[in-house]
Amino acid sequence: AEPTRRDFLYIATGAAGAVGAASLAWPFIAQMNPDASALALASLEVDVSAIKPGQIVTVKWRGKPVFIRNRTPEEIEAARKVPLGELKDPQTDEARVQKGRDNWLIVVGVCTHLGCVPLGGVGQRGEYNGWFCPCHGSSYDTSGRIRKGPAPYNLPVPSVQFLSDKVVKIG
Ligand code: FES
Repeated sequence: AEPTRRDFLYIATGAAGAVGAASLAWPFIAQMNPDASALALASLEVDVSAIKPGQIVTVKWRGKPVFIRNRTPEEIEAARKVPLGELKDPQTDEARVQKGRDNWLIVVGVCTHLGCVPLGGVGQRGEYNGWFCPCHGSSYDTSGRIRKGPAPYNLPVPSVQFLSDKVVKIG
């Protein structure tokens, strides 16, 4: 998926934070090779093989929660049949996942309203079966797109690369 301009700004902000942290911890390494040290801090590899269909796992990436969801065929279909015109922040589901790995939805778990962590436990996913933000009632769908409530944007999709069928690299 192509990162949107908003995703890029988000990622750029995260990377700047990582550079700052790297400089504090390893001043000499950071001075000699800031790109490599920032990159090492910035990415995360996750073994997703134990995440069952319908399950959502939360990992921490650059200090923020990231939701990794193994979507069922019904959840994918629900996301794909929504007309773009019904979306506040119009994005196709296809643009938010990797081609051929449509079951894996990976989003930053920070509500785009005021930054609470939306709920995704069974029975807590809200009326669009995605995530529900308990702070002011934003509901996201099975693509992590905002569908109801005050949040202005979809949950951001980080840069993602599958290194194998089991391991995904985030960042
Ligand atoms: Fe999520 Fe306000 S912070 S709805």
